[in-house]
Amino acid sequence: MHFQYYLIFLASFGLCVLLCGAEFPYLKQSVKADGSLSFLVVGDWGRKGLYNQSDVAFQMGEIGEKLDIDYVISTGDNFYDDGLKGVNDPAFVDSFTNIYTAPSLQKKWYNVLGNHDYRGDVEAQLSPLLREKDERWFCLRSYVLDAEIVEFFFIDTTPFVNDYFTHPKDHTYDWKGVLPRDKYLKDLLKDLDLALSRSTAKWKMVIGHHTIKSAGHHGIIKELAEQLTPILQEHNVDFYINGHDHCLERIGSIDSNLEFLTSGGGSKAWRGDVKWWNPEELKFYYDGQGFVSVALNQLEAEFVYYDVFGNVLHKFKVSKDSYLASQ
Ligand SMILES: *[C@@H]1O[C@H](CO)[C@@H](O)[C@H](O)[C@H]1NC(C)=O
Repeated sequence: MHFQYYLIFLASFGLCVLLCGAEFPYLKQSVKADGSLSFLVVGDWGRKGLYNQSDVAFQMGEIGEKLDIDYVISTGDNFYDDGLKGVNDPAFVDSFTNIYTAPSLQKKWYNVLGNHDYRGDVEAQLSPLLREKDERWFCLRSYVLDAEIVEFFFIDTTPFVNDYFTHPKDHTYDWKGVLPRDKYLKDLLKDLDLALSRSTAKWKMVIGHHTIKSAGHHGIIKELAEQLTPILQEHNVDFYINGHDHCLERIGSIDSNLEFLTSGGGSKAWRGDVKWWNPEELKFYYDGQGFVSVALNQLEAEFVYYDVFGNVLHKFKVSKDSYLASQ
């Protein structure tokens, strides 16, 4: 199965390179026999099991089993504090392989990079050598995962944030492959726009590390709100899913169906700083550890938020038909 997946990846990647130049790589995943699929979303996790990372991992295993998940999506900040030092950094095994050990989590992990990952060797996380160490691992800067009923658009959000360039404090960011920054961002936005406009999937979900709308510590990231939100709205994206704020949250939009979901509770949390947010939009906020599960088919998607004990904190269902009817 892994081999097959890899062949499809190579074939579609090759085809894409041929047909469309430097666009996002495309991957494919099939749905279950009944046309549904399920997955977990976790973010901000790699701390060698500390700060309850292992407890969250254990509950992910339990829920993963119950839902028979197809894969896991990680919203970035995969390795604290400073990413990976290289492909042989033991943090990879200590924070990933040896933590997410439950049988149900032995599936593909689709990762994006967070700002902490950019403080280390970015290319290590993108390297096929890492995939050899643990075949679950998959990370690129930006890519598309086509899972028949849903398309996921994984976006590299760190290079959008001005502060990392102008006020890096005592951090060093690995901008290899990102400079010149203007061109990198322009191409990324153009490729996202193109990929979204080509998508015929029922559901569209965009995954990035940074918050666009959040009542948590980092709040609104202006660069993304200005440059990404219009593209998401134009193409009727259903969900933007991020980490960065170490909390679980759900924020809707007064003027569209676009929802902003934060799953950044993979380890250290409890920052305690919650900002005011319009209650008409803020549907759920939990300033602690946990993760999110998603189960969907053509017609319905169900999201469930869990705490570190596996308790359900919040859940909601979105139906495509009522969705369309209400537009
Ligand atoms: C672990 O989780 C429990 C329950 O939510 C919480 O009280 C505790 O502070 C957490 N510990 C750490 C180190 O985050």
